[in-house]
Amino acid sequence: MDILSQLDQIETAALADLQSAHTGEALETVRVEFLGRKGQLTQVLRGMGGLTPEERPAVGKRANEVRERLEAAFAEHSAVIAAEEEAARLEAERLDVTLPGRAPFIGRIHPLTRVLNDVKSIFTGMGFEVLDGPEVETFYYNFGSLNYPDDHPAMDDQDSFYLSDDVLLRTHTTAAQVRILQQRTPPVRCIYPGRVHRREQMTLRHSHTFHQVDGLLVDEGITFADLKGTLDAFFKAMFGEQTQMRFRADFFPFTEPSAEFAMSCFVCYGDGCRLCSHTGWLELGGSGMVHPNILRHVGLDPERYTGWAFGCGLDRLAMLRYGIGNIRQLLETDMRFLTAV
Ligand code: DAH
Repeated sequence: MDILSQLDQIETAALADLQSAHTGEALETVRVEFLGRKGQLTQVLRGMGGLTPEERPAVGKRANEVRERLEAAFAEHSAVIAAEEEAARLEAERLDVTLPGRAPFIGRIHPLTRVLNDVKSIFTGMGFEVLDGPEVETFYYNFGSLNYPDDHPAMDDQDSFYLSDDVLLRTHTTAAQVRILQQRTPPVRCIYPGRVHRREQMTLRHSHTFHQVDGLLVDEGITFADLKGTLDAFFKAMFGEQTQMRFRADFFPFTEPSAEFAMSCFVCYGDGCRLCSHTGWLELGGSGMVHPNILRHVGLDPERYTGWAFGCGLDRLAMLRYGIGNIRQLLETDMRFLTAV
């Protein structure tokens, strides 16, 4: 085949191959195949050495034509492919601007923490310290040191979570009382909040895990009137000036005399409603004068020192204040609940 025919063939083949290239990469392969340094066009031009001087100009002209034609066609097709690739990319990255936005996530302070913060700030305002005790406690501090009679049912396996014969999850924050009295000398004035555990069936109001705050004041000349006055001031600060307190005789091994305490219902002010089970009162906790056996046990003379103590459920306070019907919601991390309260 003569050179001019070869050039025609190269032109036709290159134009056909280029049409079937649909990516920049494929197009480049075709370009190198025909126009590259070792491409078909160069190969053919090498054969020009065998031509006569008369033949050369026509072949040279035709070769340039073919080169220019092909270069133009590659440039044009390359622009088409770039536009196609751009269109595909835009399609793939398409944004639906009509989709609703995603609201930023806003954290909240847990209702129990809010209640506890208020409890701490009211008591520290009255000169109390905030102390702590271990959640995994010995039998001695949880029960033994607190003057429990040997057969008290609270000490039973049925009622407490024992880790061994001698170690259990504390069943009340009162477990820290003797630890504190062993470490301090009167005047002792403190609250000690924390998590406690009892073997309880989960119900709306009861849980195996809940929270309490105990308070303790031991000094010379402390009376039951101080207990009443302090709790009265605390609950007025917590639930409003109209709050009334009620104390009724009760029994706890670690106090004598002992009293349960309640506050007037802040929904019905004593008339009776669903919140207070139509009694007009909301029961809150236990209290009393520190038992002389405990004072003696920590080396204090009960003739000289007296003290009061109380214990109160924190979950109960949070449920009352925020209208929470199910204690379980306080222990679970359900953001729908936490952001709604
Ligand atoms: N620990 C008691 C309970 O969990 C509550 C209590 C009663 C605490 C009297 C006290 C107290 O400090 O003096 O039921």
